[in-house]
Amino acid sequence: MLAGNSIGKEFTVTSFGESHGQCVGVIVDGCPAGLPLSEADVQAELDRRIPPQPKIVSGRIEKDAVKILSGVFNGFTTGAPISMTVENKEADSSDYEAIKDLPRPGHADYTARIKYGGFNDYRGGGRFSGRVTVALIMAGAVAKKLLNAFDVDVLAYTKAIGKVKMGKSLSSEEIRKLRYKAAVRCPDLACAEAMEEAIVNARKEGDSLGGIIECIALNVPAGVGEPLFDALDADIAKILLAVPAVKGVEFGAGFKVAELKGSENNDAYRMQHGKIVTQTNNAGGILGGLSSGMPIIIRVAVKPTSSIAKEQRTVNLSKMKDATIKVTGRHDPCVVPKAVPVVESAVAIILADHMIRAGLISKVLKERK
Ligand SMILES: Cc1cc2nc3c(=O)[nH]c(=O)nc-3n(C[C@H](O)[C@H](O)[C@H](O)COP(=O)(O)O)c2cc1C
Repeated sequence: MLAGNSIGKEFTVTSFGESHGQCVGVIVDGCPAGLPLSEADVQAELDRRIPPQPKIVSGRIEKDAVKILSGVFNGFTTGAPISMTVENKEADSSDYEAIKDLPRPGHADYTARIKYGGFNDYRGGGRFSGRVTVALIMAGAVAKKLLNAFDVDVLAYTKAIGKVKMGKSLSSEEIRKLRYKAAVRCPDLACAEAMEEAIVNARKEGDSLGGIIECIALNVPAGVGEPLFDALDADIAKILLAVPAVKGVEFGAGFKVAELKGSENNDAYRMQHGKIVTQTNNAGGILGGLSSGMPIIIRVAVKPTSSIAKEQRTVNLSKMKDATIKVTGRHDPCVVPKAVPVVESAVAIILADHMIRAGLISKVLKERK
């Protein structure tokens, strides 16, 4: 019934698990043999998910410990499916019984009830919870290791929280070094403070904020992508729009292209150290669904957290009557900081799939002697 839980053609990722079930997990198939991989590699990525700042995240203490169940032997991937799980240790389902007939505005409660006839696990949002993104982080850890072996680097960071926007432009080296220094995951540390204050203020008002995450992929060779329908930008947009709370995706100049003239938008070519580059990068590193060799630049719009302390109108689904709801429990006033490593992982998954499809990553990385 719950089809649609896999993505990728050669490097495939299948997600399973619910927020308050036993575990969340993922199966990665098609990863070449011979990639060094340990639980510590995946754990390091999982540990980055929760910002170390109780003021801006929920009170949940999510101690996510990964278990690799298959596909790794003697510290290397074997070429067989890699399955990984994280137990749900901190789930508290008591808040959800009282509101099971009262769909929370902004959540998937109502739409899921219609689709699955009330049989879906609604606790904590079930399959629709942000918790399910743990699967993307685990698969992303494998994808990132694979890409790093080919010098491809994927870096995401917070560009805006509500109306507080990062104005400063930083080098990719600065972004790599500074993006996890502040709890909001903005590498401009002065701006990060203003963002944090905005989140704290929203929480005090019983409200929430959204924001923008930018993701840059460096060193992707030109010509990666499978037009028409598996165009690189189309596949990246697909995985990102599957991340809960993501409502928009743009590449390069994005929606601003609508205001530009052709002469302003076109990225002129030139030679640089024997390589073809473009003078500007309004295309965001993708032309015709194929990578251009320039940095791939993606931005996603994340909506403000749906669970807010303020009273909201809803409908009682068993009585079919108007009602009100106050969402209690532990929720983040802004999910952007937690979504930063998720976006990074999601983009890495698609790039790994397409680099394998392009024949740039072989099925066996290093023959065993
Ligand atoms: C990492 C992450 C954590 C999230 N945590 C929460 C949360 O604590 N409270 C909440 O209301 N929404 C949270 N969300 C978003 C909801 O899961 C999402 O808005 C909801 O399922 C509806 O899906 P949609 O916004 O994509 O339409 C989170 C999303 C992500 C990516």
